[in-house]
Amino acid sequence: MEVLGILGSPRMGGNSDILLEQALAGAKDAGGETEKIILSKKKISGCFDCGKCNETGVCAIKDDMLEIHKKILEADVVIHSVPVYFWAMTSQMKAYLDRWCAFFDAQWRVHKAYLPKMKGKRIGLITVCGDPNVSTADPIVHSFKNTCQFSGLKLLDVVQLSATEKGEIAQNEAAKKKAYDLGRKSVK
Ligand SMILES: Cc1cc2nc3c(=O)[nH]c(=O)nc-3n(C[C@H](O)[C@H](O)[C@H](O)COP(=O)(O)O)c2cc1C
Repeated sequence: MEVLGILGSPRMGGNSDILLEQALAGAKDAGGETEKIILSKKKISGCFDCGKCNETGVCAIKDDMLEIHKKILEADVVIHSVPVYFWAMTSQMKAYLDRWCAFFDAQWRVHKAYLPKMKGKRIGLITVCGDPNVSTADPIVHSFKNTCQFSGLKLLDVVQLSATEKGEIAQNEAAKKKAYDLGRKSVK
C-alpha cells in the first residue's frame, strides 16, 4: 500500500509538517510504504488552461508536477497537510491542485486511462490555522471535498487543527494522535 504525503506549508518543521509526519508514521505502522513531497521545494507552475491535457492526459508544462502526477496515480492514499493563509490554502497547494486538471478530459471527466488508478483512491487532508476556531480552514475542506467528489476519490475524515508558532503543535498530543490515526486508518 503506497501512501504519498503532500506538504503544502513552506515552513519546514512547522505545524503542518509535524502533523504530516505523524500521519505518515501511522500509515507506516499499519504496513504502508510512505513518501513525502514538499511542494515548496518543487517547481510547480499554476495551470495555463492550454487544454492540451484534455487530449493527451499529460500536462504541457514541463516542471516537477509531471513526476508528482505519476506518483499520485500510483499511490493508494494521498495525504495532504496544509496551513490556512488568508482564509484559503497556501499558493503552493493551490498550484498543485490546479494542476490536477491533467487528470481530466475536455468534458471534465477523468481520462479513461486513469480511471482504474483514480477509482477508490483515498485522499487525506490535515489543515492548520492560527485561529482557535478550526472552521477557519473550511474553505480548504470545501475545495478538497468537491475535488474528490468530482474525481471519484474517497476523502477520508478530515483533521482540522489550530496552532500558530512554528512547531507549536508538537506539544499537542491529542492533535498529533488525530493525524497519526488518520494515517493509520488510511491503510487497509
Ligand atoms: C501569510 C500567512 C497568512 C496566514 N493567514 C491566516 C488566516 O487567514 N487564518 C488563520 O487562522 N491563520 C493564518 N495564518 C497562520 C497560519 O495558518 C499558522 O501559523 C499555521 O500554524 C502555520 O502552519 P505551518 O507551521 O505548517 O506553516 C497565516 C500565516 C501566514 C504566514
